[in-house]
Amino acid sequence: MSTTWTPNSWQDRLAKQQPVYDDAAEVESVLGSLADLPPLVTAWEVDKLQAQLSEAAQGNSFVLQGGDCSESFDDCNANTILRKLKVLIQMSLVLICGSKQRIVRIGRIAGQYAKPRSADTETREGVELPSYRGDIINRSGFNETDRRPDPQLLLRAYERSALTINYIRALSQGGFADLHHPENWDLEFVRNTPGSRTYQELLEALSDSIRFMEVVSAGELEQLRRVDFFTSHEGLHLLYEQALTRADQRQRGYYNLSTHLPWIGDRTRAIDGAHVEYFRGIRNPIGIKVGNTIAADELIDLVKVLNPDNTPGRLTLIHRFGAEKIGAKLPALATAIKKANLNVLWSCDPMHGNTQATRNGFKTRSFDDITSEIITAFRVHKDCGTRLGGIHLELTGEDVTECVGGPANLTEFDLPRDYRSQVDPRLNYEQAMEIAFLLAEQCK
Ligand code: PEP
Ligand code: CO
Repeated sequence: MSTTWTPNSWQDRLAKQQPVYDDAAEVESVLGSLADLPPLVTAWEVDKLQAQLSEAAQGNSFVLQGGDCSESFDDCNANTILRKLKVLIQMSLVLICGSKQRIVRIGRIAGQYAKPRSADTETREGVELPSYRGDIINRSGFNETDRRPDPQLLLRAYERSALTINYIRALSQGGFADLHHPENWDLEFVRNTPGSRTYQELLEALSDSIRFMEVVSAGELEQLRRVDFFTSHEGLHLLYEQALTRADQRQRGYYNLSTHLPWIGDRTRAIDGAHVEYFRGIRNPIGIKVGNTIAADELIDLVKVLNPDNTPGRLTLIHRFGAEKIGAKLPALATAIKKANLNVLWSCDPMHGNTQATRNGFKTRSFDDITSEIITAFRVHKDCGTRLGGIHLELTGEDVTECVGGPANLTEFDLPRDYRSQVDPRLNYEQAMEIAFLLAEQCK
């Protein structure tokens, strides 16, 4: 690994999963504009998340990370953003009450626009076109115009990210996120399940505790008026990430200021590849997706390259094996990392190893596989003497029908009713809340 890092030193390595643009001058001009625009987050916020993740890595809190597989430009509206924030805050309340731990909230939001794909092209009825790679690159419609990688979409993605983060900041900093107003936290379109009844009791207990604390402290607890909320996305499109990489005013090196927590996907984590080269030089806390093909010594090398100072919280290993494989794969990795005394935060993504196709042509995931992977993850970490400190979910705050099973026991025949995802199937609102109850139970 070379020792000189610059924001563009990745360009000397093989960069997988990058779009091929047909107009180099247009790309240059767009990147120039991006580099002149203000950052979307600040280095101080990034440092705050790093400190919170350090606490989580040391066993003092739990990380809840979730959102769309792929955000779409069309979903950049008040209602959808509010619902995503709401479900994540509600899940975090359930987790706080159940686990008695602090929860770090991170959305897959405000920049989750680039997708890795298994094939470069897609063929339908004899017509072959570039694959859809996320709204920052091209469009999902199956025609030549939509599928052309369009550099202008980099600017549109930056703008949508800015609009989204602006609204999230406003909602999380006051009013909406004020715990004094539990009416903001009612469950919607959730059946009368044991989980929903427990949730109502939990809200009442929360209000009682707040009243009690405020009587005791003779005043309103200011910190209950707002919540911390951080953003994350897969740092896949390296030209975009580079354009938003900025030297810190305090001379602390470079930060990726397009998001608080960028992560490296399972397909782009080659140790000699461009993504690892880019990520090793930024100051942000970072995630790595860890799938079935990685060996323990490879993971150890990767951790050492990305976190040479062994700083707790710098690195989150997000494992995603699938319910069937986790029991065989995780123990060797967890044990090796522990033996090497490497400080990492372990998080479980129970979504990406559990994707299947239905007979009627939908991509789905079964709620039972998701819960089974979560339960196994807690057990294996316990057995290995490591700790599961986080969860990584694809979810939405809406009543979609994309994953089968759950409280309403959706079947593959229910999927056509409201299947909206262009890429991977997400837990709907009710399924997501049910997962929060399961996690609260497991964290006890
Ligand atoms: C994702 O998180 O949407 C994704 C593509 O995951 P992975 O890199 O784990 O396959
Ligand atoms: Co996905």
